[in-house]
Amino acid sequence: MSNEQQRSTFTLDGRRIAFTPGQTIMDAALAAGVYIPHLCHKPGFAPHGSCRVCVVRADDREVSACTAPAATDMRVESEVADIRALRVAVLQMLFAEGNHVCPACEASGNCTLQAVAYHCGMLTPRFPQRFPRRAVDASHPDFILDHNRCILCELCVRASRDHDGKRVFAVSGRGIASKLIVDAPSGRLGDTDFSADDAAAHVCPVGAILRRDEAFRVPIGRRRFDVAPVSRVGDVQTDPDVPAGAAEVLP
Ligand code: SF4
Ligand code: FES
Repeated sequence: MSNEQQRSTFTLDGRRIAFTPGQTIMDAALAAGVYIPHLCHKPGFAPHGSCRVCVVRADDREVSACTAPAATDMRVESEVADIRALRVAVLQMLFAEGNHVCPACEASGNCTLQAVAYHCGMLTPRFPQRFPRRAVDASHPDFILDHNRCILCELCVRASRDHDGKRVFAVSGRGIASKLIVDAPSGRLGDTDFSADDAAAHVCPVGAILRRDEAFRVPIGRRRFDVAPVSRVGDVQTDPDVPAGAAEVLP
């Protein structure tokens, strides 16, 4: 690494963060052990920039930390009151757009949306609940696909396409009409070659892609985000054999 690269830093809430050319604000912050809330971002995945939960202010402009490139001497603010309030509003919108009934959801305690909402201090709803009518696809022998909880982060789309080489998932439509679809003439997950070995089977940050046989294997109170906050354990679990709270621990 050249001296120039070694010297490249920006400030994040007053703290100097080193970065290498090509890294985003999010990449550099996570590498330095500084958590910026995020949902559609996942290390090792192509940036997507759709959820907007990672909003920060960079040189007086609001940007998505997961897509904005880090730049020398950039001044980034994340944990300041108005940016925190923006994040809470984004989360409140996500909760209003879907059917997220945490106390009745088997992903409770393992759900990154729920954990990020706790982290950001979202205490109440704010927008009228839309209660969309969405399907539950129970056609697959090992998985349930519950569209009610899908936040359209496209992590499963990217995982299937870029890591599994399959393209089981895609998003169709625009804006409020967007929806997750699966690549089968019937539109049913059970008619695809989706399997438990796929990376896409382990990336959903909410309870939209659920394994049938795992529902309450880990009791509520001992799940991933029950035992440690999302700021410490990172985002969704990628390895089903790693105990909750043990994976992706940030330094
Ligand atoms: Fe994201 Fe899960 Fe919806 Fe896929 S099913 S787009 S991983 S929320
Ligand atoms: Fe950056 Fe979703 S994590 S836009």
